[in-house]
Amino acid sequence: MIDDIRLDGPEPLQQQLYQQLAERIIDRRYPAGSRLPSSRQLALDMGISRNTVNAVYDQLKAEGFVQSQPGKGLFVHQRIHSDTLQRIGRPVLQPDGVALLPPIPKLQASKYDRAGDVSLPFQPGLPDLDAFPIRSWNRILHHQESRKRLRGYDSSQGYLPLRHAIAEYLRSARGVRCQEHQVIITNGAQQALSLVMDVLLKPGDRVFSENPGYRGARYALASRGNPVTSVPLKRQVLDVDALPALGPARLLFCTPTHQYPMGGILDISQRMALLRWAQQNQTWLIEDDYDSEFHFYNKPFAAMQGMFDHAPVLYVGSFSKTLLPALRVGYLVVPEPLVDHFVQAKQVNGGESPLLIQATIAEFMETGQFTRHVRRMRQLYRDKWLHFQARVAAELDGLVTPVAESAGMHLVLEGDFDDQELSLWLRTRGFGSTPLSSHFFGEGNRTGLVMGFASASEHEIETCVALLRERLGSSPVAR
Ligand SMILES: Cc1ncc(COP(=O)(O)O)c(C=O)c1O
Repeated sequence: MIDDIRLDGPEPLQQQLYQQLAERIIDRRYPAGSRLPSSRQLALDMGISRNTVNAVYDQLKAEGFVQSQPGKGLFVHQRIHSDTLQRIGRPVLQPDGVALLPPIPKLQASKYDRAGDVSLPFQPGLPDLDAFPIRSWNRILHHQESRKRLRGYDSSQGYLPLRHAIAEYLRSARGVRCQEHQVIITNGAQQALSLVMDVLLKPGDRVFSENPGYRGARYALASRGNPVTSVPLKRQVLDVDALPALGPARLLFCTPTHQYPMGGILDISQRMALLRWAQQNQTWLIEDDYDSEFHFYNKPFAAMQGMFDHAPVLYVGSFSKTLLPALRVGYLVVPEPLVDHFVQAKQVNGGESPLLIQATIAEFMETGQFTRHVRRMRQLYRDKWLHFQARVAAELDGLVTPVAESAGMHLVLEGDFDDQELSLWLRTRGFGSTPLSSHFFGEGNRTGLVMGFASASEHEIETCVALLRERLGSSPVAR
């Protein structure tokens, strides 16, 4: 009965023997009522100590896998398959080895892709990781690490000094009208979007989203099963004039200061019209201000949230671009009457954000290092943007059309090719990008590549453009 056991794994012998015996009992290779060899016999057969076997037998007995019958020996428990397995909660294996799991729901979105799971040069949204001031950051981190105050619990809304620093920064740099008690710290902008859905959506509420648009937002908007309507763009920005014909909506997601991914900037009259439409229709606007720090020549437009008091706007920001995506810290600014709703939702949905990271960012901001870092990155990204555009103009003329505002961390190269295939091809050569078509929802997609130049070095920019010329110039990537 026992001759199929092999104790040749890296785990301790006792653990291996226990696992193998338990497995064989669970999948009925050792049927209920069958007799196990004596501990002396098994120890001899396996070449291991009798103590090891006795310890395993004792454990199997304690867990109800086996029972001893005085004077007769040790037997697989009679009720093992009806009773014990339910109690221990291990999945029952079918003959083909497939676990019988409870029903598995259908995946909501069919186009989730994991391309963003790796950090490659040209990955959209990825900052220059080498340019991050890691030494200063570590100094602050070590300083904060020794504070006992940061070892326990704190508020789900977020660490107060960080909320204070963010409110101050948003008021002065982005014209946001807010106090620290309106700021909610989140685990990235993504959690901020998810909280908005938790708090504001009821079943059946309609939600609007820019098309093309940010996929992370689109997935969050669709995550509760509400109908999502696409709002088209006009000249690379949300087409505000198209809204009245689309009927009512509870929420509208937009990126007014740098449309993602097309890069357009909603001008002042369009912003006014959008706010007026939202007020008239009782619609909440989600303003995703994801990379406004990086406008290269002019000061970026102030946030829409700050255009007047009580604007129906939920303002979303993130440190993923200004610091590092790995920190997973973002923020939401909500109107006062909604603060408690959001804090409650945050409590349920993950609770506090990691305190040590929050405190480190707070000190980084309080000491002026955040502003200096952003200023340095603006210069660096402007140089990369110029270099990338120059290389594209020199080598890809006629093959792609750059869609460029002087802002941000990515550039769209539009072109008539199979962008999914080209993006995959670039990935095999070590360069990230996303296909433009994957940012469209529904029919009529345009094609191209969304290229995050901020994370690419000068050399990588040159190599990647040369690769694209070779690929697009010699054998067109047919659509
Ligand atoms: C449009 C947009 N919004 C928000 C974010 C930031 O998301 P998170 O803070 O979850 O990293 C990104 C990141 O790529 C983005 O492209």
